[in-house]
Amino acid sequence: MAVLCNFRHFLLKKRLIVVGTDDDGKIARAGGSGLQRSACHVLRGDIVEDQKITKILVSEEEVREMVARLGADITAHYQGIQKELMVIGLLRGSFIFMADLVRQIKIPLVVDFMTVSSYGDGTISSGDVKVVMDLDSSIEGRDVLLVEDIVDTGRTFSKVIRMMRNRNPRSLKTCTFLNKPGARLVDIQIDFCGVDIANEFAVGYGLDYAQGYRNLPYVGVLKPD
Ligand code: IMP
Ligand code: MG
Repeated sequence: MAVLCNFRHFLLKKRLIVVGTDDDGKIARAGGSGLQRSACHVLRGDIVEDQKITKILVSEEEVREMVARLGADITAHYQGIQKELMVIGLLRGSFIFMADLVRQIKIPLVVDFMTVSSYGDGTISSGDVKVVMDLDSSIEGRDVLLVEDIVDTGRTFSKVIRMMRNRNPRSLKTCTFLNKPGARLVDIQIDFCGVDIANEFAVGYGLDYAQGYRNLPYVGVLKPD
């Protein structure tokens, strides 16, 4: 039987959750159904020993709740639209968020993707935004929801918003999973926002550092080198 050690306990939604390391030194969490061995079940503020993550900004559970809330808000906003909603994701960062979000939007929709480059492989915005792969379909006369992983300086999203407006959609709204208000250099309107975070470099749930860490199921901050 696995033994949980170095544990701390939390009350989460009235359930006692115990998080610690199991006998292999992996992070484990014991809840109602016993001990689940997984490096994924981490809570915000936890220290994660693997994958060079120093702390959790948004836990898996918080991601799920946030996506459900955004899906419900978007569904309510677009009730009764005439044609399917066009949900456009900016690749690559938004791909996981998009996949979860569209399943929480309970009205007919279609998806399309665009790739713009702004950062290269570093962590500092160059401000130079290029369209690497354009949409497949026309957005003229359509209700469009633009989906971004994170709005940092706002340069990328503001350029994409301007580009999309010039294509004459019927309406254009914006949604971002993460928002860094403290880093903003360009004022933009965000209609549906997951959560504001501090001015730290976030990875996971689609967000990368040098193309890595996108597959983490939570959002964390990298340890400094
Ligand atoms: P902005 O143009 O400065 O708003 O940056 C937007 C793009 O930079 C986002 O779509 C992300 O791809 C990337 N980015 C900005 N901040 C972060 C971060 O903290 N982690 C990972 N990618 C980021
Ligand atoms: Mg992005």
